[in-house]
Amino acid sequence: MPLEKEAYFGEIDRSKHGLVPVAQVQSYKGLIFGNFDPDAPSLVDYLGDVKWYLDVWLDAMPGGTSLVGETQKIDFPTNWKFPVENVCGDGYHLGWAHHAAMQAVQTMDLAGLRAGNADASGLDMGMSVAGLNGHMVLAALDGQSGYAFYPNPKPFVDYLEANRSKVVERLGAVRAQKLWGSQLNITIFPNLQLLPGLNWFRVYHPKGPGKVEQWTWAMTENDMPNDIKGMILDNQCLTFGPAGLFDNDDGDNLAACTEQSRGWRTAQMDLYTHMALGHSARREGFPGDIATGLVSEHNQRYFYRRWQELTGAASWKDVPSYNLNRLASEG
Ligand SMILES: [Fe+2]
Repeated sequence: MPLEKEAYFGEIDRSKHGLVPVAQVQSYKGLIFGNFDPDAPSLVDYLGDVKWYLDVWLDAMPGGTSLVGETQKIDFPTNWKFPVENVCGDGYHLGWAHHAAMQAVQTMDLAGLRAGNADASGLDMGMSVAGLNGHMVLAALDGQSGYAFYPNPKPFVDYLEANRSKVVERLGAVRAQKLWGSQLNITIFPNLQLLPGLNWFRVYHPKGPGKVEQWTWAMTENDMPNDIKGMILDNQCLTFGPAGLFDNDDGDNLAACTEQSRGWRTAQMDLYTHMALGHSARREGFPGDIATGLVSEHNQRYFYRRWQELTGAASWKDVPSYNLNRLASEG
């Protein structure tokens, strides 16, 4: 400690002023989580049945996954919940907010989402999954659309088809054929998102009211050939890097939403959040409470519900745990 004797006169008890120890550190298939609360549930219980979806990325191939490239840090003026909400469930904004970006890079169908939303056919070709302890998944179901926003998806589709039988052995047919290779937006409540396909991994760090710092990495399967890993890093920077086409569209909108929501007149108005309310159900073969398609406010409602449950609870004992429509194999 600098000048401990000269400036503090040797009077400071350093044992009482150290860093706060992290009470729990646990890992799940390569991801390491820390928690300051000794009373928090175990990581496995906290994740619950979202693990079934998470394994489609973390455990599909025997080599597991890695982050590649540099840590990409940006901060921007928005409430930290907005970018999480944007990615956890909002397929509605895509065709308009990212019209130009989609025209530039989209080469395959992605659950009916198209530039300008001029053609709404096929919007039911995906699902919005929630009811999993506040964790959420958006999923296309075609086994390849994760690479829909790559200028040349062929090397990726070839890799998927060459290896799909291995994934069937590891995860079973439903996940291997419908989810592996599909665009998946996985949100681990509250501030971690993994997007297999677009292949990024992101943590949001709230920096005070109306400010967030986001850390993003490209993510690959270790079994992928090196040239594919390089193309993934390039495409992640092109789409969702600090100067990425899609991230810049979103950043402008989310900053504007934050600013607009602060307005005195805006605060007098009700926010309509009922899109697809009452239109979710059990879907055979998949855990969670599931709404059809990626265009819905189903997941966003669960996100804010979980936030309310946690901020309204006096202790972890008061926080409900729910894994709706659990598969028998997960019981
Ligand atoms: Fe977006």
